[in-house]
Amino acid sequence: MTDPAHSRYSTGAMIFHWLIAIAVIVTWRIVEAAEHASKVDEAYWMGHHKALGITILLLTLGRLAWRLAHPVPPMSKAVAKWQRLLARGVHILFYVLLIGLPIGGWLATSFYGYGVDMWGLFAVPALPVGESKDIGGQIIGLHKTGGEIMIYLIGLHILGALKHTFWDKDGTLFKMLPFGTVKS
Ligand code: HEM
Ligand code: HEM
Repeated sequence: MTDPAHSRYSTGAMIFHWLIAIAVIVTWRIVEAAEHASKVDEAYWMGHHKALGITILLLTLGRLAWRLAHPVPPMSKAVAKWQRLLARGVHILFYVLLIGLPIGGWLATSFYGYGVDMWGLFAVPALPVGESKDIGGQIIGLHKTGGEIMIYLIGLHILGALKHTFWDKDGTLFKMLPFGTVKS
């Protein structure tokens, strides 16, 4: 079967996917910039990292609500079962990290006694957890590990999408784009 209407993600799912993908890559590059910056610049870059991270959390909640109401296209039966399982596993881990990383970052920041300034528009308050730099530091440790896992998974996800599209020529990439031919 070639390109039936339901072989593609809905327009809303595509918008969420690409907005979040760009935001995740930008927030990662920002935190790298913070790492190599002076003390003053570090605070500036971390402010952007945190505000963008909270934005990703809000977008992901919106995306999941959208997903409940809009069925997603099935994976092609032509793809080997282990590859379908791997792709599904990566997608689930993405959702876990897209929610867990910002909540972890927010929680850690709260343990340091701060909320998150959303670019001067409004402030996300610190969670009522009391102050403990020890616990905050431990959560940041987990957050950093989670962040690194996310980067590797993005690499795997992109390689998978490109392999299916240009090697197997099954049009996988076009499931997430409003043009091109999808084979199912
Ligand atoms: C999906 C959203 C997020 C992603 C993908 C993400 C990713 C990362 C990554 C990759 C690192 C650096 C790892 C390293 O240096 O080894 C990091 C560090 C950090 N993130 Fe996030 N983060 C997100 C959201 C947040 C949020 C919402 C906050 C706080 C409100 C936050 C606070 C921090 C802090 C405090 C650090 C440690 C910086 C340092 O001491 O070097 N992050 N994050
Ligand atoms: C950078 C961060 C990215 C994240 C966090 C991410 C996350 C996701 C998630 C969670 C899904 C599953 C959607 C669902 O069923 O609800 C998905 C699907 C998809 N993504 Fe990404 N993605 C990213 C980047 C990319 C990039 C750069 C590409 C293109 C090279 C891409 C191509 C695709 C394709 C083609 C699908 C549909 C796969 C299928 O259903 O067979 N993604 N992505």
